[in-house]
Amino acid sequence: MGQILFLTIIFLALSSSVRCNHVYSKKDFPKGFVFGSSTSAYQWEGAVDEDGRKPSIWDTYLHTRNVANGDIAADGYHKYKEDVQLMVETGLDAFRFSISWSRLIPNRSGQVNLKGLQFYKNLIQELVSHGIEPHVTLYHYDHPQYLEDEYGGWINRRMIEDFTAYADICFREFGNYVKSWTTINEANIFTVGGYNDGNSPPGRCSQSRGNCSLGNSSTEPYIVGHNLLLAHASVSRLYKQKYKDIQGGSVGLSLFTIGFKPCTSSKNDGIALQRARDFFMGWMLEPLVFGDYPDEMKRTVGSRLPVFSEEESEQVKGSSDFVGVIHYLSATVKSEPSSLSGTAPNFFSDMDVSITFFGNVTTFEVRVIEENIRFKIPYIQLSLQTLKCYQSIFLSFFFVFFLFLTSMLLSHGLWKMS
Ligand SMILES: *[C@@H]1O[C@H](CO)[C@@H](O)[C@H](O)[C@H]1NC(C)=O
Ligand SMILES: *[C@@H]1O[C@H](CO)[C@@H](O)[C@H](O)[C@H]1NC(C)=O
Ligand SMILES: *[C@@H]1O[C@H](CO)[C@@H](O)[C@H](O)[C@H]1NC(C)=O
Ligand SMILES: *[C@@H]1O[C@H](CO)[C@@H](O)[C@H](O)[C@H]1NC(C)=O
Repeated sequence: MGQILFLTIIFLALSSSVRCNHVYSKKDFPKGFVFGSSTSAYQWEGAVDEDGRKPSIWDTYLHTRNVANGDIAADGYHKYKEDVQLMVETGLDAFRFSISWSRLIPNRSGQVNLKGLQFYKNLIQELVSHGIEPHVTLYHYDHPQYLEDEYGGWINRRMIEDFTAYADICFREFGNYVKSWTTINEANIFTVGGYNDGNSPPGRCSQSRGNCSLGNSSTEPYIVGHNLLLAHASVSRLYKQKYKDIQGGSVGLSLFTIGFKPCTSSKNDGIALQRARDFFMGWMLEPLVFGDYPDEMKRTVGSRLPVFSEEESEQVKGSSDFVGVIHYLSATVKSEPSSLSGTAPNFFSDMDVSITFFGNVTTFEVRVIEENIRFKIPYIQLSLQTLKCYQSIFLSFFFVFFLFLTSMLLSHGLWKMS
């Protein structure tokens, strides 16, 4: 068990709207640096009611709002061979995609849908035979609608067991070829979007916060974040117990990181910066590294923040072989205490700082500047030092800059859903 630190950096693609200040080439990157592209099942596959697939919360969310949806998307379900060909022509080393849970296990009975299974086997075979590494995400915001209907999805701890059973099937069926597993994509932003603001599935929030019919932004983001961490830990433990020795892969979690910079050099903005980092990243990263939430979060959120039992803390701590760092946006942080006081507390009023993004967030314009990366690194380096001392964890950074396949997504207007 080495105290080795693996920095596998996957530099994935970047959308056509990027403005680069510098021109980089592959030669600027270290040897062994992996370039790839990335999609999620709902944004890429289409074929939502073909071959036995049933709705996920994404289908429901978009269909009930009557807005652009993923019914066809990039039609990857039918066109995966062409897409792999494009990856080959582009010279990519890896493809990161997610599995649609409701395609693989469409009904509550838990039976595997053989046609869904075959699709993923075919895709993986197509990638591997062209020398492209498959990197698989198990959960990209799209659990089956039947679980949401039955017990409320992630607000209920029963999800931990169901998610682990689903992961077990994936490891068993695909693990001979898949060596990199991300349990949950951007666990932090999924939680904020789905349960604090209600602007992504399952669309839950307090009515004071958004236009949601169900939810509670004071409590649910923290409950869901907690259940996601426990589910991740459970899946990671399953892999270690049952598959790791034979398959030799690694299991991690990915986070949506924001490059934060203090607005001024004042002490208060420095404190605000740390609060923003604690809430956005420390919330998930510190349990994975230290087994508990950041002190500042515990102090602010109080009894609304679930508490890890000793056993859970031990399970979550060290449960990630890597942490995927997914990065699009940078922002300045300003101390603006109580800017949201008077409303019922929610994730942002708890964080209690003012954040101004660079670029046009409406259009998801991404400004790739070197500072983006520098801003967020200190937080992670801090954890890395600790990791080196206490954990035998491999931390890999996925600096996700979408270059290629995103243009397909953009052309279908699906980019904003990432
Ligand atoms: C799921 O249920 C439908 C009927 O509701 C059935 O036609 C289908 O075969 C079932 N799929 C699996 C994989 O059990
Ligand atoms: C949210 O839950 C808290 C704690 O149970 C409760 O005090 C509050 O009234 C709830 N808010 C809403 C909007 O339901
Ligand atoms: C709120 O959501 C409902 C159902 O999704 C929709 O019909 C209504 O127009 C929305 N209201 C606003 C103000 O957006
Ligand atoms: C962001 O882009 C949208 C859509 O193109 C545009 O309407 C808006 O004015 C832009 N905002 C800023 C601050 O540039």
